[in-house]
This record gives sequence, C-alpha cells and structure tokens, in this order.
Amino acid sequence: MTEKALNKQGRLMEWIDKRYPWTAFWKKHLSEYYAPRNFNFWYFFGSFSLLVFVMQILTGIWLVMEYTPTGHESFASVQHIMREVRYGWLLRFMHTTGASAFFVVVYLHMYRGLIYGSYKSPRELVWLIGMIIYFALLIEAFTGYVLPWGQMSYWGAAVITSFASAVPFVGDFVLVWLRGDFNVSGVTLHRFFSLHVIAIPLFLAVLIFVHLVALHQVGSNNPDGIEIKNKKDKNGVPLDGIPFHPYYTVKDLVGVVVFLFVFSLVVFFTPTLGGLFIEPDNFVVANPMVTPPEISPVWYMTPFYAMLRAIPNKFFGLITMAAAIAIMFVLPWLDRSPVRSIRYKGTLSKIAIVIFVISFITLGYLGHESVSTLRTLLARIFTIAYFGFFLLMPFYTRMEKTKPLPERVTG
Ligand code: HEM
Repeated sequence: MTEKALNKQGRLMEWIDKRYPWTAFWKKHLSEYYAPRNFNFWYFFGSFSLLVFVMQILTGIWLVMEYTPTGHESFASVQHIMREVRYGWLLRFMHTTGASAFFVVVYLHMYRGLIYGSYKSPRELVWLIGMIIYFALLIEAFTGYVLPWGQMSYWGAAVITSFASAVPFVGDFVLVWLRGDFNVSGVTLHRFFSLHVIAIPLFLAVLIFVHLVALHQVGSNNPDGIEIKNKKDKNGVPLDGIPFHPYYTVKDLVGVVVFLFVFSLVVFFTPTLGGLFIEPDNFVVANPMVTPPEISPVWYMTPFYAMLRAIPNKFFGLITMAAAIAIMFVLPWLDRSPVRSIRYKGTLSKIAIVIFVISFITLGYLGHESVSTLRTLLARIFTIAYFGFFLLMPFYTRMEKTKPLPERVTG
C-alpha cells in the first residue's frame, strides 16, 4: 500500500473507532487475545463448528426461497429444488451433509473438552452454554428432518412427539399441543418449519456469541490443562501465549481447507452416505397409512434412542434418555480431580474415558439397528456403562494418583 493509501486507511479507522470500538474489539479478541501455544488437532473443531453454522444458515436461506412448508406441497417442492432449481441439488446436499458434519465436529469438540478437562473451573459456564447449544442443535436437526415430508420425516415426527404421551396425567394434552393437531399433520410441519428456520437459529446465534464471550472472559484451556495466565512476562503477556491472530487464524484456515475437501467428497460422491445422512425411506413421500419397516433417527441421535428402547417402560425410557443428556450438564461438578487434562490424570480416568467412548459408539450402532434379544441386552449393558462413567466420576477422580503438573506447557 502507498503512504497515501495508508494515511487514508488510518483516518478511516480513526473515524470508525470514535464511533464504534472496532480496534479495541479486534485487539481484545484477536490480535491481543493470547491463546496457549500448544493447541493441537483437537482445537480445530470450535472454528469448524462456527464454519458449519454459517454454512447451514447460508444454504438454508437459499433453500427456503424455493421450499413450501405445507403438507401437500413440501415433498414436491424439495423435488423441484433437486431437479429444477439451478444448483438446487448442491444447496440441498450441502445442507443435509452440513447437518451431519455439524454433529461430527461438535461431538469431537465436546470430546476435546472431556479429555482436557476444559469444563472444569473456571470454564463451567463455557461448558454449560455449550451444552445448551448441543441441546438446541438436536432440536434444530430434528425439526429440519421433518421438513422434506418423506416417510422418515413423518414417522420420525410421529414417534418422537408421541414420547410426550408417556408423561403421566398431562401427556395427551402435551402431545396435541406439540403437534398442533390430533395427529402429525401439515400443521405440525408448519410449526416445525417456523422453529427450524427462525426461532432456533436465532437462539443458536446468540448462544454461540455468549459461548465465545464466556471463553474469552477466562481464556482458553490447553492440552496440558494448566493456566498460562499464571506465568506472565513484564508486560503482562502470558509466557506460553501467542496472539490468536495471525497464528491461530492461519492455522485454522489450513484446517478449514482440509475440512472442506472431505466435506466436498461427501457432497459430490456420496451425499446420503449409504443411508446414514439421509435415510432411503425419506425419498418416499410421507404416507400416514404405511409405517416404514424400521423407524430410527439419524445417527447423531441413535445413542439416546438405543437407551430409550433398552428400557421396557416407555416413561422410564424417556426419563433415561433425558437423564443421559442432563448428566452431561453437571460434568463440571462431577470431576473432583486436582488436574484437568487426561495427560496427568490417573489410570482409572483413562479407563473410564475409553469405556465411555466405546459405550457411546456402540449405543449409536445399536440405536440404528433393529431390535433383537442380544441387542437389547447389549444396549442395557452399555447404558449402565454410560451412566457409570458419570456417576462414579466423583469417586475415581478422587481415588486415583495423578501425575505432577509441569511448570510450563509442553509441546
Ligand atoms: C455451534 C456449536 C459450537 C460452536 C460454534 C463453538 C465454538 C467454539 C469456539 C470457536 C471455541 C474456541 C476454539 C476452541 O477451543 O476450539 C470453543 C471453545 C469451547 N467450547 Fe465450543 N462451540 C460449540 C459447541 C460446544 C459444545 C456443544 C460444547 C460442550 C458441551 C462446547 C464446549 C466448549 C469448551 C469447554 C470450550 C473451551 C475449550 C478449551 O479452552 O479447551 N462447545 N467453542
């Protein structure tokens, strides 16, 4: 840039800064936000989640331009998008793949929090807000899956809303209130559309903002789980901190290229991922007279669905499923270990995390398959293991011997 152009830019920034704290914001949250220098692979998934959120909003806006949210026209309008709208197929497959990609990156993001103890003090609120985001995402995905009004949309909505009827005394009332009708109908579709395109995305946008404000208030954790703020130079800059911009903005951009490459492979070559991202039954128009042979939710909800089916009583099944999500909210208060990161925790914590991951994945598989005696037995065993991981945590994290923490971050 020439000197004249630089002067002009400086004057423009001055003009803006007098009216809006842009430079102060940039410094506080990017160029002078000191993040630990030892971020690794697991630290990509926060920015990937942000990227997928933006992608979902953008593709969603364009899909809504051609989509019709009524029981009679919805399925046909999706076919219109796929066949007649220019690049409509691309928009739709980006949106459907984006939904699953969202859960892939958010699950990995949560797993990172789990192994490095990022939920522990002083980051409890970052975790809690994250959990509200996760819950809102589940509802967002569920309401979205109903919109194409295929067989799985219809029957998925019928099964999930019917859970409400298991609530004692007020169940039937709540069921009709949720559906807006005595059965799942166009009215249900229309209200789910409203939730999916405006209410929940708006809520999510606010929550993501609050999530990041809470994170920047306390600063990021890192794979060693030690506070970089405890060791500062004479200017007050953490010795193990580096400015988020340009170091991590550039690192994240490299990750984004790899992510988009893998994402494109799915979108262009296998958009339904063998029925995992869009189930085959959802290419058949909704028919209240024909129940599909197997009704199961999309993969990211199947661990909880497996728990529901493992319990013989519908109401207790519902309670178990709700408890499986609720218990993650209280994680910061279950972990009594003096250290954060799995690197310095004892053997019991390591075994517990392995059991937890195996349980979650196996339950996910079982929830996707049809019911059999053996599968029900396995689902019960892994449901117990899942809850055991959380409920026994206050004990094994206190009993085990931890490794001494390093003075400064390693790696
Ligand atoms: C739309 C979904 C989400 C977005 C866009 C998002 C975004 C981010 C970003 C950009 C960061 C900072 C970079 C990083 O540490 O990776 C972060 C940190 C964090 N997030 Fe999320 N997040 C989301 C969901 C969640 C969920 C569901 C949880 C957990 C329940 C969660 C828990 C955390 C925690 C504990 C940290 C701090 C990690 C650390 O400092 O080690 N987030 N999030």
